[in-house]
Amino acid sequence: MNASPAAPTDAAIESLLAFWVEAGVDSMLLDVAVDRVEAGKFVPPAPPPRLAAVAQAQVHAQARPGQPDIGGALAQAQAAAAQAQDIASLAEAIAAFEGCPLRYEGAARQAVVWRGRIDAPLMIIGEGPGAEEDAKGQPFVGRAGQLLDRMLAAAGLTDRVLITNTVFWRPPGNRTPTLAEQMVCLPFLERAIALVRPKLLLLVGGASAKSMLKREEGILSLRGRWFEWRSTTGDLELPAMPTLHPAFLLRQPAAKKRAWADLLTLTERLDRPDRPA
Ligand code: URA
Repeated sequence: MNASPAAPTDAAIESLLAFWVEAGVDSMLLDVAVDRVEAGKFVPPAPPPRLAAVAQAQVHAQARPGQPDIGGALAQAQAAAAQAQDIASLAEAIAAFEGCPLRYEGAARQAVVWRGRIDAPLMIIGEGPGAEEDAKGQPFVGRAGQLLDRMLAAAGLTDRVLITNTVFWRPPGNRTPTLAEQMVCLPFLERAIALVRPKLLLLVGGASAKSMLKREEGILSLRGRWFEWRSTTGDLELPAMPTLHPAFLLRQPAAKKRAWADLLTLTERLDRPDRPA
C-alpha cells in the first residue's frame, strides 16, 4: 500500500528554519526571478517626460537582458539628487526616494548612506549594505567593515575618509547589486561626490569598480591601478583606484598584502602636494 508522506509538524518546520538561520540563510530567494513591476508590487512613480526619455536611453544603453527597465526611477533620482544643495539634504532625499527596487526587496529597515567626514579627501565606495548595515543605518559596520576600519587606521586614514556604497539599500540575501540597481542610485552617488569633492576615490570590490569605471575586467586585474573616474555628465573627473573587498580578504587572508599595497599607493598619492595649475 502507498502511504502518503505525513505533513511536517510545526515543530519540524521551526527546527528546519532555525537550522537554516544558523547556517546563514536569512532570506528566501526563488530560483526564478519574480518581476515585481509586472506583479504590481513595485510601481515606480511617473517621471517628468523629458528627463524620462534621457534616462530610458541611458538605462537601455547599459542594462543587461533580464534586468528591469528603471528609466522612470532614474529620472526621478536625477531630479531629486540635483535639488540637494548639501550632504544632509542629499541623505534626506535618498531616504525619501522610492524608485530603487532594493528598498522593497532587500532592505528590512532603512536606507544606508555614508559615514565619515563630509569634507573627506578620500571617498571609499563599496558594493552595497549587508544585514548589519541595514540594521544600524551605516555602511561597513559588520565584520568586513571592521577589517576595513583596521586597515584604514593602520594607513593613518581613519579621519580622512567618507565611506559609502554603489547602492543605498541592502540587496536581498546580500547578493551583488545589479547594474540597473546601481544605475538608479548613481545620480545620488555622483551628487555626493560633487558635494564632498574628494581628491581620490577608492573602489572596494569588483561590483563597485566595474560599475563606477564601466570596465569588464575582474577585480584581480583592476586592483592597484589608477583610472580616471568620470561623472555621467562628464563635468567631474577624479583619480580612482579599485581594491579588494574586505569580505574577500576575510575569506582569503593571503590576499591582504595586495590590499595593503593598494592602500599604501593610494596614501602616497593622497599626501602628494597638488601641482600648481
Ligand atoms: N560590504 C559593502 O560593500 N558595503 C557595506 O556597507 C558592507 C559590506
